[in-house]
Amino acid sequence: MASKRIDPSLVLRNAQKAEKDRTFGLFDLTILGVGAIIGTGILVLTGIVAAQDAGPAVTLSFLIAALASCLIGLCYAELTTSIPNSGGAYVYSWVSLGRLPAFFTGWTLLGVYVTTTATVANGWTGYVKSFLAELGVNLPNSLLLPAGKGGVVNLPALLMVLLITLLLMQGTSQSKFVNDCLVCVKLLVILLFIVVSVQDVNPANWHPYFPYGARGVLTGAGTVFFSFLGFDALATSAEDAKDVQHTIPRAIIYSLAISTALYVIVSLIMTGALKYPALDISEAMSFVLIAHGHWLVAQFVSAGAILGIIAVVYAFIYAGANIMKAMSRGGFLPTSWSRLSQRSGSPNRAILLIGCLAAILAGEFDLHYLALIANVGSLMVFLLVSLLVMLLRKQYPELPRPFVVPGGKVIPILAMLICVILLVTISIEAWFSYLIWLGCGGVLYLTYSRKHVIA
Ligand code: ALA
Repeated sequence: MASKRIDPSLVLRNAQKAEKDRTFGLFDLTILGVGAIIGTGILVLTGIVAAQDAGPAVTLSFLIAALASCLIGLCYAELTTSIPNSGGAYVYSWVSLGRLPAFFTGWTLLGVYVTTTATVANGWTGYVKSFLAELGVNLPNSLLLPAGKGGVVNLPALLMVLLITLLLMQGTSQSKFVNDCLVCVKLLVILLFIVVSVQDVNPANWHPYFPYGARGVLTGAGTVFFSFLGFDALATSAEDAKDVQHTIPRAIIYSLAISTALYVIVSLIMTGALKYPALDISEAMSFVLIAHGHWLVAQFVSAGAILGIIAVVYAFIYAGANIMKAMSRGGFLPTSWSRLSQRSGSPNRAILLIGCLAAILAGEFDLHYLALIANVGSLMVFLLVSLLVMLLRKQYPELPRPFVVPGGKVIPILAMLICVILLVTISIEAWFSYLIWLGCGGVLYLTYSRKHVIA
């Protein structure tokens, strides 16, 4: 197995950029993190989880998921500052465990990025529907719901993903300015909701606080964990970060702290403004506003959510295409999939594959189910990342570590423990889908990757 590992010095040689070529400071990285983290989770899942899983205690679910993300984020910070590269966990896994685990980590990440994109797009439809309905345009359910939910296809979600895919294929570079604007829109929308809806809170709505018991809170945490996905995206920008050792760990913690504060306040207000069973709806934020007569604010919030969520889809298709490119360069996937288009300079084949797959899932599957599959995959990768922190310290003690998780093994072990607890709460169906995805990967590995891998 050892011979099939890749040497960290090789990764470092390929990845090191001169300090002067690094463009991201602490502020840019924090915005990048907040931009990738805040999206469908808070705008869409809060209401559904409150109604179906946790009741008003959804706030505690958010706190548990935040704690998990913080511990995992610290582990990421150690790995990403010692092996900075854009393949993230896929590369750490190759360095420490060898090519087969690297393949399955990369394959899992591909699945995670596709299902996350599909979930985010699926939830977006709720806000489009609400926005259009308030303008008097009512789309039929057959075009809004997937076949399994009484419709034919979630057409807005499918079309939006295809459109963003086409946009990415034009080589639209990830402009810092556009990203910063979209992040501002998202934050403004959430702040607007907080300021307006706080007046409608009736503490009686928080009783009973635990209608589904402790198990409901944990199941809720397993779902709202989705809201924190994206902090790991910061790990892939280590090559572009100035003063990595200080900026990356802080950016991870700051973006998680900002998101957690907003999530907790929003969930408190949402469950305080309406009784939790009424929140079983994807456009819960605008629903709460309309229920209390704030029609115009609801329209602003829907419009802002529509724009803000698009940015998350953009970021995740892009991240998925990057992992596909990295795996294709490693020989695990056909080399043509990492070829850059001469016209746009983008890995168009990879973008198209990721985009089409995500569009189909967004059009034909249920939001809650998609989010759970994304969570199983992510938690498996995070479990591995926490383990790799300890393994790599043993295997490569001489590797420069600009940032070391404090407290020895305590935080990585706690992170692993919390990942396992959340994984246990996730439904069998989601696990089954993940195993099918791994099975497909296994077939691909045996028939193709094993023969073409470069090391
Ligand atoms: N955390 C991201 C969201 O909630 C995936 O949309």
